[in-house]
Amino acid sequence: MAHIPTGTGRLPWRASVLTLFPEMFPGPLGVSLIGQALSAGLWSLTLHQIRDFGIGRHRAVDDTPAGGGAGMVMRADVLAAAIDRARETDADLPLLYMSPRGVPLTQARVRMLSEGPGAMILAGRFEGIDERVIVGRGVTEVSIGDYVLSGGELAAMVLLDACVRLIPGVLGAEESLAHESFEDGLLEYPQYTKPRDWEGRPTPEVLLSGDHKKIAAWRRAEAEQLTRERRPDLWGARGKRR
Ligand code: ADE
Repeated sequence: MAHIPTGTGRLPWRASVLTLFPEMFPGPLGVSLIGQALSAGLWSLTLHQIRDFGIGRHRAVDDTPAGGGAGMVMRADVLAAAIDRARETDADLPLLYMSPRGVPLTQARVRMLSEGPGAMILAGRFEGIDERVIVGRGVTEVSIGDYVLSGGELAAMVLLDACVRLIPGVLGAEESLAHESFEDGLLEYPQYTKPRDWEGRPTPEVLLSGDHKKIAAWRRAEAEQLTRERRPDLWGARGKRR
């Protein structure tokens, strides 16, 4: 596959998505800064229709689970054929399968992925995929949270949005990345803007003081308090990250 030069000296970050519903893409990834970056060639999106590799006249992609039980399971042979085709052009990309069983998607994982060449993402439907394709094709299962979606497409979009916004040149101000939630293991401090007084609630005096050291200290303390209160898991894990 030919790479479009980005004008930044970098090759575009490549997203390759395997799905039964390619029409869901780019969807929300086609608007705003992420969408502009797609049009500008800072990242690319290739879609593979899994059904193209289906079996028989009906192009079946799933079947009943071995051992019985509810629902349908996506076939190993069908998925492997789709993966192998996608890998003809994108063999270097890590292969991820969006699943509530997966390792949690964290900002650290997002950053790692965004610094690589891209991601190949398998978006499943039904009850899951045949375990043999996970082992046989070296798939990493990734979860976006402890709840169950009806398919992996939305989860794939969440992962892609989080990665693409970290690609240099996609967001305007690099500065806005440095202080956001999770970058230092803390939730973000509260923000204020105009008006200075609103419904009897004043903007904290320190933020109007012009004393940058005091402001930084106040923000740090607020971020720490928020993290302790809302996310004891994050607070407890500080210092143990990466
Ligand atoms: N597919 C269905 N639910 C999911 C989740 N929570 N995370 C990732 N992929 C999913």
